Amino acid sequence: MKKLDDFRFVLGKNELVPIMIGGMGVNISTAELALETARLGGVGHISDAMLPTVTDRLYKTRFVKQKLQKYKYNIDNADKSVVQFDLGEVAEATRLHVTKTMDAKQGDGLIFINCMEKLTMNSPRETLKVRLESAMDFGIDGITLSAGMHLGSFDLIKDHPRFRDVNLGIIVSSARALKLFLKKTAKLNRFPDFVVVEGPLAGGHLGFGMDWAKYNLPDIVADVMNLLKDSELDIPVIPAGGIFTGSDAVNYMEMGAAAVQVATRFTIAREAGLPEKVQQEYIKATEDEIEVNTISPTGYPMRMLSNSPAIGSGIRPNCESFGYLLDSKGNCSYVTSYNREVEKHLKKISVMDKTCLCTHMRKFNCWTCGHYTYRLKDTTNKLDDGTYQIPTAEHIFQDYQFSVEQGILLPKLEVA
Ligand SMILES: Cc1cc2nc3c(=O)[nH]c(=O)nc-3n(C[C@H](O)[C@H](O)[C@H](O)COP(=O)(O)O)c2cc1C
Repeated sequence: MKKLDDFRFVLGKNELVPIMIGGMGVNISTAELALETARLGGVGHISDAMLPTVTDRLYKTRFVKQKLQKYKYNIDNADKSVVQFDLGEVAEATRLHVTKTMDAKQGDGLIFINCMEKLTMNSPRETLKVRLESAMDFGIDGITLSAGMHLGSFDLIKDHPRFRDVNLGIIVSSARALKLFLKKTAKLNRFPDFVVVEGPLAGGHLGFGMDWAKYNLPDIVADVMNLLKDSELDIPVIPAGGIFTGSDAVNYMEMGAAAVQVATRFTIAREAGLPEKVQQEYIKATEDEIEVNTISPTGYPMRMLSNSPAIGSGIRPNCESFGYLLDSKGNCSYVTSYNREVEKHLKKISVMDKTCLCTHMRKFNCWTCGHYTYRLKDTTNKLDDGTYQIPTAEHIFQDYQFSVEQGILLPKLEVA
């Protein structure tokens, strides 16, 4: 009976435990979680989603206040096109987070940063270039491109001195998307170093439509492997989405995967960024409380708990402070929906079709999660007071690494 630890993830010169913890914005995949993963020999992710607000909290910068100060005059204006990020501040926020994380790294593992293309920040190309280049400037081990096709992303950074040696990968949900991406990177003679294939059971945004249930991860992984074989490309393939046990992971390794990417089980780790109250909500959740909806202004379906405070909230848009989802023309579909409700002159505004993702992700009020969140209660102990024990990242990591036969080891109960 094989266990995940019988395999190794060979990435360039590195030999890693084949466990990659996926990026989870906004600072759910914390530096602490990534550092613990690297210490244990795997690949951890930090996320660059909303970094200026994250660094305000972590390192006492004042980026949000400064931005609001500058654009306060525009709050009542429906046109948000003037509300631009200061690129120097975006670089500085990235520098702070990446440097602080990489300086603390121990062990043989690696730390990557997750960069979502859909974080368009009112100036998609310029801001993405600064985010990617700053992460490389300050020593990140690798970048995982996500939430978008990223057809122009390699081109944006092709002149960076680390372009050819930093680990660059992409998350795709179909062989078709990968084919388009490879066509672009072939022109630069720079192929990705790894490909994460994310299926429909993942957390966060989905690379599928509302017909996501029609798809399944093993088929997509097989399609991607065939495409790479036909193209004579030897690129590590990393399945993600719904891999809940070490045995699930072994099944993919036996198919030829190089590693697996997991996230949901780590949402309840002590080192993850979710407040413990929210972690208890995740653990308590039942299957019928997990929904895929279309309230994210990105246009991608998103999976979340149906009791997320973000759903139906009519909070005033906060683009002058945040504005991470404003597109290249300064539009965000939440702003449009909010203004439509304001026109109705109701006493209490509730917006059902979209949510203010910036505000709610920042406050941990959008409880995005993977499909198998309802199984989290089987991974830990219920305590006498009715709450659940919060396991360490090390415990979860080693459960993936060493468990067999669909087993899940419960964390040791701590004696007070
Ligand atoms: C709470 C949460 C937040 C996530 N946020 C992001 C994100 O910001 N960017 C991204 O590319 N993927 C995100 N994901 C997807 C994960 O990185 C990962 O690929 C996927 O969830 C793996 O499936 P699993 O959760 O079933 O293990 C998120 C997942 C979760 C559970």
